Amino acid sequence: MALSDFPRYPLMFGPSPVHPMRRLSEHLGGPAIWAKREDCNSGLAYGGNKVRKLEYLVPEALEQGADTLVSIGGFQSNHTRQVAAVAAHLGLRCVLVQEKWVNWPDALNDRVGNIMLSRIMGAEVRLDPSGFGIGFKDSWRTALDDVRARGGVPYAIPAGASDHRLGGLGFAHWAHEVAAQEAELGVFFDTIVVCTVTGSTHAGMIAGFADLPPGPRPRRVIGIDASATLTETRAQVERIARGTAALIGLGRDLREDEITVLEGWAGEEYGIPVASTLDAIRLVGGLEGVILDPVYEGKSMAGLIDLVRTGEIGADSTVLYAHLGGQPALNAYSALFTA
Ligand SMILES: Cc1ncc(COP(=O)(O)O)c(C=O)c1O
Repeated sequence: MALSDFPRYPLMFGPSPVHPMRRLSEHLGGPAIWAKREDCNSGLAYGGNKVRKLEYLVPEALEQGADTLVSIGGFQSNHTRQVAAVAAHLGLRCVLVQEKWVNWPDALNDRVGNIMLSRIMGAEVRLDPSGFGIGFKDSWRTALDDVRARGGVPYAIPAGASDHRLGGLGFAHWAHEVAAQEAELGVFFDTIVVCTVTGSTHAGMIAGFADLPPGPRPRRVIGIDASATLTETRAQVERIARGTAALIGLGRDLREDEITVLEGWAGEEYGIPVASTLDAIRLVGGLEGVILDPVYEGKSMAGLIDLVRTGEIGADSTVLYAHLGGQPALNAYSALFTA
């Protein structure tokens, strides 16, 4: 099967916008930096990378006759907020297990931002004290059993919609979308920078770009780990990339050099920003009016900035920064920005 053979339920406005970041490029004095904006890809609860992934899961959920989407994440999970939005949009129920993934002392962590939006959209939000982990959890199984026990038909969506057969397809499609936008704009992005945690965003891109005809120059997709568990993240990216490549009929094994996950900007712990995160957030906010969050995009942008400064991304490059969303979580980090 090719990617185009998989059903896709439209949840976005269309292709997400691509634009140059002129003042940031000028400030760094190296390559031309552009952004592709998943943070404004949809009218569903501020959009984000999960809305794009869910376009490929929704047809299966509907075909199975599901009446409840069930998923899991941290208190400030962007993913669960997007699942809640998609459920509301489709007229389905939604049960969300929200775990204490982040050791962040904000008193409103379980009340504002993403979790508040999920409650507004009518999701059943279940707070759980378990810590960070992208695997399958008992609390999640209990949620599925509870839906069945009350006569419902659950559709299970794992953390980040990643550990799911169809989880990589949304961003494989993204790669094709990029190729069409490159043709329209007359540019070629030789370097893609993307934040990676549960893995299927980055993995989908790897499979999707491998599926395209060769471009005018080599292209690399650089994943920036924001989980602070590099080995697990890389293993998950590799597994999902290979699974997605096989699913879309790539017809060859992915090479090791196609799977790059870099560490150095996650800090000690998932969800806790470090100095480089905050510097990146302020820099891009002040130069571009583009807002990044302290959990994901602030970290991947910190990586991009350093890779440009060290010359790892050369001055002759044209870079595409994948902005995956995540701003609602900023509300739980107000103490960082009081001046
Ligand atoms: C804003 C944002 N950026 C990046 C990511 C990482 O994407 P993935 O989990 O597919 O690796 C996520 C979700 O985990 C996210 O919500």
